[in-house]
Amino acid sequence: MKTALISGGAMRIGAQIVRTLHEDGYKVIIHCHQSEEIAQKLCSELNSKRNNSAQVVVADLGDNQAIKKLTKTIKSLDLLVNNASLFYPTLTENITTKDWNKIINVNLRAPFFLATGLSKVLAASQGCIVNIIDIHSDHPLKNFSIYNISKAGLKMLTKTLARELAPNIRINGISPGSILWPQDDSQLSENEKLIMLDRIPLKRQGSPNDIAQAVLFLVNSKYIAGQVINIDGGLSLNQ
Ligand SMILES: NC(=O)c1ccc[n+]([C@@H]2O[C@H](COP(=O)([O-])OP(=O)(O)OC[C@H]3O[C@@H](n4cnc5c(N)ncnc54)[C@H](OP(=O)(O)O)[C@@H]3O)[C@@H](O)[C@H]2O)c1
Repeated sequence: MKTALISGGAMRIGAQIVRTLHEDGYKVIIHCHQSEEIAQKLCSELNSKRNNSAQVVVADLGDNQAIKKLTKTIKSLDLLVNNASLFYPTLTENITTKDWNKIINVNLRAPFFLATGLSKVLAASQGCIVNIIDIHSDHPLKNFSIYNISKAGLKMLTKTLARELAPNIRINGISPGSILWPQDDSQLSENEKLIMLDRIPLKRQGSPNDIAQAVLFLVNSKYIAGQVINIDGGLSLNQ
């Protein structure tokens, strides 16, 4: 049975990636940080479908020691999906190094050290990494400078590690457009959401399943390396 580790896999897009990989026959390692209860529930549901096919690991990806500890516990792996992320506005004039470190460490440093920390086990299985990026890695979202920078870095990480870790590990990325509104979307009025949807050529949000299917596509496309696919209903054409 192939094994996949999905960071931030308890909820939302991450949970759909977990479910899709599990349906495809993977044993899934569901990483979470604060959502352990939700992750355990998903894990039990998947284990009830297939014995011993899911487990939960808890780690703060802002803490490099925790990442080291996590990578040491994994003895065999076919796929790493770097999905966990922090997304909140940072107004340029008020940015502190604390904000910088918090976002950059989770969105960029963690994927790098997960990839390099797991490179031996991934190489042993001729495995893959899929990084979940964002179309704002190319087209900056106003008031989210650190997030934009972190995702632009993650895009370069994808390309640079695709060279460095080839031919034993294949690395690609997916840049979602608008898939789910942020969990705390209290600052977005219904009207603002409609305006945002209207800018998407396909006139609707994507679904977590659109992202999960793209993960499967990249995993199964054995001659694709170092590429980033926009899954955005055409939104990046309008930026
Ligand atoms: N939602 C969209 O429309 C959209 C658009 C473009 C790009 N994306 C990208 O797609 C991916 C998934 O999006 P999403 O909206 O589903 O993500 P999300 O809900 O914002 O975050 C996913 C998970 O990241 C984990 N995380 C945050 N800080 C962490 C930390 N310090 N240590 C460990 N885990 C941490 C959280 O896990 P816990 O809850 O367990 O703490 C959280 O559940 C992200 O990479 C995002 O940037 C999403």
